Amino acid sequence: MTLILWTVFGYLLGSIPFGMVIARALGLGDLRKIGSGNIGATNVLRTGNKPAALATLLLDSGKGAIAVLIARHFGGDMAAVLAGGAAFLGHCFPVWLGFKGGKGVATFLGTLIALHWPLGLIACGIWLLTALISRISSLSALLAAALSPVFAWGLGHGDLIAVSLFMAVLIFIRHRANIARLLDGSEPRIGRR
Ligand code: G3P
Repeated sequence: MTLILWTVFGYLLGSIPFGMVIARALGLGDLRKIGSGNIGATNVLRTGNKPAALATLLLDSGKGAIAVLIARHFGGDMAAVLAGGAAFLGHCFPVWLGFKGGKGVATFLGTLIALHWPLGLIACGIWLLTALISRISSLSALLAAALSPVFAWGLGHGDLIAVSLFMAVLIFIRHRANIARLLDGSEPRIGRR
């Protein structure tokens, strides 16, 4: 029963659409009508407001991390894994936006950092390195997501393998349109509209 409550707690925290809230508060418009239509930091950057994009990145990753840290402190390791996975799910399917949410990348990174910081830093490193080389946010996310279960497997940590695999599969599903654009060469570089 308590584990269900931690899952609901993670989901509700994760479903706060910080990108939408920030964009609206700053008068940047409705993210769903800008660029890719996504509610994440990459799309906030397309409004031209870098601090707003950074704030979105920090808050979207922070909600995953906070869900894990609070659940672990009060509920233990299994509660932390469930709350983190649920926060990620909440970002992708937020109740407040009719279950039409984001692609989950920042929340995935924040959740992983809080669950197992070396694995989280490896995922961030893969994202950053790919972004520096390719300047393509979605490609960076897809690589980080695909490799994180492999590294979790290397660590031999069952819960981490399960939660990172769950998030990776969902990230690929949420990036279907990006994958199509990557394949036909039309995916925009970071910061481009
Ligand atoms: O973090 C989301 C990113 O991987 C893709 O965002 O707006 O280019 O679809 P976007």
